[in-house]
Amino acid sequence: MTYLDSAASSLVPRSVIEAVNEYYEKSGVNIHRGVYKASAWATDIYEATRKEVSDFIDAKNCDIIYTRNATEGLNLVAASLSQVDKELSDFNGYSAWKTGFQSGDVILISESEHHANIVPWMMLQRKFNLEIFYIPVLDNGVLDFQSFLHLKSVLRNKTVKIVSLAHVSNVTGVYHDLSVYEAYAREKGAIFVVDAAQSVCHERISQTGLNADFLVFSAHKMLGPSGIGILCGKKELLTVLPPYQTGGDMIEVVAKDRLTFQTSPQRFEAGTPHIAGVFGLSEAVKILQNFEQSDMEKNEEELTLLLLERLSREKGIKIQGPVYEDVRDKKIKKAGLVSFTLNGVHPHDVGTIFDSKDVAIRVGHHCCQILMKVFQVPATCRASLYMYNDENDIENFFKALHEVKSVFGL
Ligand SMILES: Cc1ncc(COP(=O)(O)O)c(C=O)c1O
Repeated sequence: MTYLDSAASSLVPRSVIEAVNEYYEKSGVNIHRGVYKASAWATDIYEATRKEVSDFIDAKNCDIIYTRNATEGLNLVAASLSQVDKELSDFNGYSAWKTGFQSGDVILISESEHHANIVPWMMLQRKFNLEIFYIPVLDNGVLDFQSFLHLKSVLRNKTVKIVSLAHVSNVTGVYHDLSVYEAYAREKGAIFVVDAAQSVCHERISQTGLNADFLVFSAHKMLGPSGIGILCGKKELLTVLPPYQTGGDMIEVVAKDRLTFQTSPQRFEAGTPHIAGVFGLSEAVKILQNFEQSDMEKNEEELTLLLLERLSREKGIKIQGPVYEDVRDKKIKKAGLVSFTLNGVHPHDVGTIFDSKDVAIRVGHHCCQILMKVFQVPATCRASLYMYNDENDIENFFKALHEVKSVFGL
């Protein structure tokens, strides 16, 4: 198979599978509670992995919370913030949080967000009668700065509680320059959330550099196993935020007349976690850390340019996001994924014919229905690249594309 769907889930290296197996073979028992060696060993690795992840994303003054995935990280933040009834404003400038959510409060996201970074906020919108504003996206996938300036004036007298944006779009591959939105969040005393699901796999991101209050990602897009993800959050917020789920492991004291919780991060990890997943994540982080970053970026950049350049010579292709020249001339920074449509052919037919040629691409709305509407397409085809792809894969991509064209007489 020619695998061009790493933006959905990357392939899993053998050493990651072995790390998962190692947990089951050497221990396989529960963490934290056991006083015996097999439990202590697993607990040590589970806890040590927090530090590895923290170093990997250059996090400072943060806690690393294990989640199932990026989606759960965002749900955790939304659910926990929805319970805030006391003041958070004593924490360095979160002036929008003088109270919990009030009717008319604003959440600012963009039109290019994944549903994971829309729906949890929509649920809060329904519950508290909030307003969601969307930073518009230009045809090339870049966030529309001029419209943002206009939005800023519209929101001048409103309480903006949350600014939550993806670092890299899973449809266009565009790296969003988040610094201006981070600055805006600070100006409004809002909480700044970064969805790093599509960036953490491609480059060494820095929580400190982004100054994200919360940052989420999933292991399965960065060589790790499925079912395990990360929420990195600033300690100052996590210390005061109420728990997300409740039950075992997250409590300190439970009595008939008393209930107290653990401190973060345990407070946010109710029940038995995905221990094997953490073992796999630890190995994935080690691989990415040992991989020469510049080699990885160079390979992806060269293949992305090759893919875009060859697509630009194909009749009937429309690219959603930056085109070849934008990327070649470094006008727009883009990760190794390309969305396109082929005139007159539904993306699902394209995907099915690609599959008949053993080329795996993703077709559909990519959990970005709002962006599909902006681009005025029902769906797109998406080819996404990772460190293990090479020119041969691009060659197979075009063989499959030519097969589609020949089937449809184009
Ligand atoms: C930008 C972005 N955010 C969030 C997600 C959700 O990731 P998960 O399904 O692992 O929770 C994805 C998944 O494709 C994504 O691309």
